Amino acid sequence: MNITIFGTGYVGLVTGACLADVGHEVMCVDVDTAKIEGLKRGIVPFYEPGLEPMVKNNLAESRLHFTTDAAAGVAFGELQFIAVGTPQDEDGSADLRDVLAVAGAIGEHMDDYKVVVNKSTVPVGTADRVKAEIAACLARRGVDLPFAVCSNPEFLAEGAALADFTKGARIVIGTDSEHVRERMRECYGPYNRNHDKLLFLDVRAAELTKYAANAMLATKVSFMNEISGLAEQLGVDVEQVRQGIGSDPRIGYHFIYPGCGYGGSCLPKDVRALAKTADRVGCEMQLLHAVEAVNGRQKNLLFRKLLQAFNGDLRGKTIAIWGLSFKPNTDDMREAPSRTLMAALWEAGATVRAFDPQAAAEAARLYGVRDDLALVKSREAAVAGADALVICTEWKQFRAVDFAWLKRQLKHPVVVDGRNLFQPDEVRAAGLRYYAVGRADSLMPFALNGAGQNETG
Ligand SMILES: NC(=O)c1ccc[n+]([C@@H]2O[C@H](COP(=O)([O-])OP(=O)(O)OC[C@H]3O[C@@H](n4cnc5c(N)ncnc54)[C@H](O)[C@@H]3O)[C@@H](O)[C@H]2O)c1
Repeated sequence: MNITIFGTGYVGLVTGACLADVGHEVMCVDVDTAKIEGLKRGIVPFYEPGLEPMVKNNLAESRLHFTTDAAAGVAFGELQFIAVGTPQDEDGSADLRDVLAVAGAIGEHMDDYKVVVNKSTVPVGTADRVKAEIAACLARRGVDLPFAVCSNPEFLAEGAALADFTKGARIVIGTDSEHVRERMRECYGPYNRNHDKLLFLDVRAAELTKYAANAMLATKVSFMNEISGLAEQLGVDVEQVRQGIGSDPRIGYHFIYPGCGYGGSCLPKDVRALAKTADRVGCEMQLLHAVEAVNGRQKNLLFRKLLQAFNGDLRGKTIAIWGLSFKPNTDDMREAPSRTLMAALWEAGATVRAFDPQAAAEAARLYGVRDDLALVKSREAAVAGADALVICTEWKQFRAVDFAWLKRQLKHPVVVDGRNLFQPDEVRAAGLRYYAVGRADSLMPFALNGAGQNETG
């Protein structure tokens, strides 16, 4: 099939590369000229495991094409995917300007039948708005052309995007048209061989399904974080509780790791946008507001623990941070807990020395050059001579640590672990003060002057 994809971000580029990889002809369109020029040379502008080789292969085999020319994109594909960003608007709702701009371009340039496939995460009713925008353009042009608009929300997770796209649990399509069903079956056929994963829903149900899925995941995270706070107060190790409840198949192990809050480009904005949608129809979603509030509190947890460890004074301290991205295997720092922590540290007069296996360039782009931030090239360089270590992201590079070595690197033996990577006993046996999430011993304050320094906790 000839397929056009508007937007070459995480979703658009993964979709384009994966569809080209199974033999479709794909044209990717973006308004970002620098991005498109790089992609034409096989340069992927963000880190996603496996994506760059896939883009390069399909470029070399001339199945994947890149352009900034919307008219060329509209002319190319029978299927027109919209995969542009839907960032948070000022009031928390989803900003649909880019989605509607693409709809406008399709209406402006189409001259034969098109199936418009909305892959961006959009509020219920957006397919109707896309349809109206295209119809208005066609009316202005004085032409009458048939087209259909369907919803195809994307469920991939950054860091595992290729596997999620190619082997995801389901492919949701919202449409009431038999013809669209048939075209989407053909599009996804190569990824639908093992068993039928295509789930055909009403358009509005498909749109709401995406938000409901992300809201459910965010709820699991915040629920577990709230339990971790209680466990800590009760002197219970929340990691044992996690295993105790995760082993129940009705609950499962996914998304119940206690931690320093969810971030990224999806969960935070989607929870807010869903709450906003609900507000607009007079249906206040109390649970969602609580999920968001708990997450906000949790993102401040690491700073609170550090402050407690240093008796309320972090002025002049150098804090090592391992991990800046909002989760491993991505360089995405949108709404990452590390950003909340760094802002608080700077406010308190501390300096940050950070290592992330992939996100250093993104951090440099976000923060520029500043005296209180050093982006270093290894976990060792981050901790050498630092006052304390905070772990924000569970990259696998951080999971095995020689704690005796770590103790020798730090001026004060303080480790704040936002991801519960270690066995508290092992860390403390090396003489480190270990502050984790929802684990009883992390409450104990650290005495700065002398005595506390070599205690085993
Ligand atoms: N990132 C994820 O993990 C993920 C997962 C599932 C769903 N989503 C949803 O998918 C959508 C895209 O997310 P993303 O992370 O890929 O976004 P992104 O910000 O990484 O990329 C969006 C791209 O769209 C381009 N763009 C903007 N206006 C355009 C236009 N008029 N024509 C062509 N290109 C245009 C931008 O230049 C940018 O390259 C969002 O609605 C998001 O909520 C994202």
